[in-house]
Amino acid sequence: MSVTLIAAPPVQESFLREPGAPLLVWAHRGGSSSAPENTAASDEVARRAGVEWIETDVQPTKDGVPVVLHDETVDRTTNGTGPIRSLTAAQVAKLDAGSWFAPAFAGQRVPTLASQLGGLLARGGNLLLEIKNEHPLESVARIVDEIHGRGMSKRVFVQSFDPQHLRWVRELAPELPLGLLRSTLDPDPVAIAKDLELTAYNPSEHAFRTRPGIVTDLHAAGVAVNIWTVDNPTSWAALEQAGVDGFITNRPAELMGWNAALGLLRAP
Ligand code: G3P
Ligand code: CA
Repeated sequence: MSVTLIAAPPVQESFLREPGAPLLVWAHRGGSSSAPENTAASDEVARRAGVEWIETDVQPTKDGVPVVLHDETVDRTTNGTGPIRSLTAAQVAKLDAGSWFAPAFAGQRVPTLASQLGGLLARGGNLLLEIKNEHPLESVARIVDEIHGRGMSKRVFVQSFDPQHLRWVRELAPELPLGLLRSTLDPDPVAIAKDLELTAYNPSEHAFRTRPGIVTDLHAAGVAVNIWTVDNPTSWAALEQAGVDGFITNRPAELMGWNAALGLLRAP
């Protein structure tokens, strides 16, 4: 069987959305409503839906290899047990990361960051890379090395809840766009955005709804606002009207379709 490769999407120059333009779609852990999260399969679902950006979570193994996993342990999403930081890369490579989701995905692996980046190079897509949970400087440096080693700076956007991670990335890779994740809003989002030289400020839907006016202030400062994790059309419509730039969603294919339908309805 021949497999058609998909060309890489064009590099994004601006993350600010013009009024009425489609929302930017960031596929949360890949196409994670249709395939096991953070695997090559969920990357492919997002890619085939035409999504430009695949969100992923990266953590180090015991021996310092960056791998793609959301939880602190492998228990929920693999057939193994234990903290990811207590397992070597060789141990992690043997785990089944697909059967928990559906038998058809048996044999999916916990990707290394290297293999995920390789998949993007071969098959298309860009990465919204969350530096997840605790990382020492050496771990962040290893992640940056993986990106630089493949010449992928223009296809990676880094985000974290931890401002220190973003400061380290800014020092190690000044060219990479940065996003700050937030579960509650900062007293002055513009001030922290300027301090960290953010491209995007990414609050949860709940946090954003406490003060939707931040979008005006952040846009005035040139900073995009992406909301997570937004999976239903009622929220998509309300937040689109509020002027946000994009959604990190578990339903990227549906959001791509919703974007297209909204464009048709608004067409003159
Ligand atoms: O990208 C936003 C979102 O991924 C942050 O929450 O827990 O899903 O990593 P979490
Ligand atoms: Ca994440």
